[in-house]
Amino acid sequence: MHIPVKNNVRWVGKIDWELQRFHGDEYSTNRGSTYNSYLITEEKNVLIDTVWKPYAAEFVDNLQQEIPLDKLDFIVANHGEVDHSGALNELLRRRPDMPVYCTANAVKSLKGQYHGDWNFKTVKTGDSIDIGNGKKLVFVEMKMLHWPDSMATYLTGDNILFSNDAFGQHYAANKPFNDLVDQEELFSESIKYYANILTPFSGFVDRKIDEVLALNLPIDIIAPSHGVIWRDNPLQIVEKYREWAKDYQEDRIAILYDTMWEGTRTMADSIAEGIRESGANTTVTVINLAKTDKNDALTEVFRSKAILVGSPTIGRGVTHATAGILEMIEGMQFKNKKAAAFGCYGWSGEAVAKISSWLEKAGFELMNDGMKNLWNPDDNAVHACREFGKTIATP
Ligand code: FEO
Repeated sequence: MHIPVKNNVRWVGKIDWELQRFHGDEYSTNRGSTYNSYLITEEKNVLIDTVWKPYAAEFVDNLQQEIPLDKLDFIVANHGEVDHSGALNELLRRRPDMPVYCTANAVKSLKGQYHGDWNFKTVKTGDSIDIGNGKKLVFVEMKMLHWPDSMATYLTGDNILFSNDAFGQHYAANKPFNDLVDQEELFSESIKYYANILTPFSGFVDRKIDEVLALNLPIDIIAPSHGVIWRDNPLQIVEKYREWAKDYQEDRIAILYDTMWEGTRTMADSIAEGIRESGANTTVTVINLAKTDKNDALTEVFRSKAILVGSPTIGRGVTHATAGILEMIEGMQFKNKKAAAFGCYGWSGEAVAKISSWLEKAGFELMNDGMKNLWNPDDNAVHACREFGKTIATP
């Protein structure tokens, strides 16, 4: 199976409709995903990336239907992570001499993962290879987007940027082109992907986009390694990345909480009411951490200017779901966001101080010392939560 992309470029990857989790259990892929591999057949025949390991044999069998393996001249491995390099072992078992073009860091990561003595050809930014018919492949290192080994490959003549993970989405679609899918779904999967995978590397994103645009290469198509191919106004996703990379926030406040006997939930709802009553136009989202997809919650944090995190005290700490999201938040290194903690307790009440300290460590500016409530909120406490919400809305 293949999907024509442009002229002598075809998609030969795998649509993984059933994928529900990625990176172990770290990333929910509620709309599946794709592992995009591209076959270029000019005077030289080139394969760009492969697919995830479970589909290796299927992928190579399919590739053989497209082109005899002995006619392939080389592979470009834009990135060593197993979802793109997972079929290299199988492919190189059948064609052990095949050159693998990749960055020096990719040699390290591929050797580290597969322990193969492969025919590596190391490339760096600006290197190019003539593939005949007046076309060249030009390599651009994409260090930390999102691994040290990441690279993009540009095909002159057809003006296609094979960007690997950058500009991708975990989004299975039968017709994988950006103009043929539901635009809201595409936006939602794109921002979730950025928020959950690229946020820690935002500092590199803006500089890298400048560097790529400075090469003055016309870009007609951006062909990432996951999800749809951007062929209709492809630079729209580049502009989005620019926005997202600059300490992104909207006029939103996310209230993330967990609850045991509804006390902390009552606090969350009352704080949200207070924000609404303040008259601010701010959009408030109230998210039960134990019942909500953690990656959607993290995306909401990414979009928000401030977050409130609430947990009852259990043992001497916070609930499992609260600790999980705080760990994820800390790892993302969000910038320029405010935060506060809240929660109910029955006696010792460590949760609020613990959350505050965690948020501060994660780089958030604390708006106050947080709000604790002994036992379940009564009318006075509900009123106090609303007032707390109003102060948050109009700091
Ligand atoms: Fe970094 Fe899609 O692998």
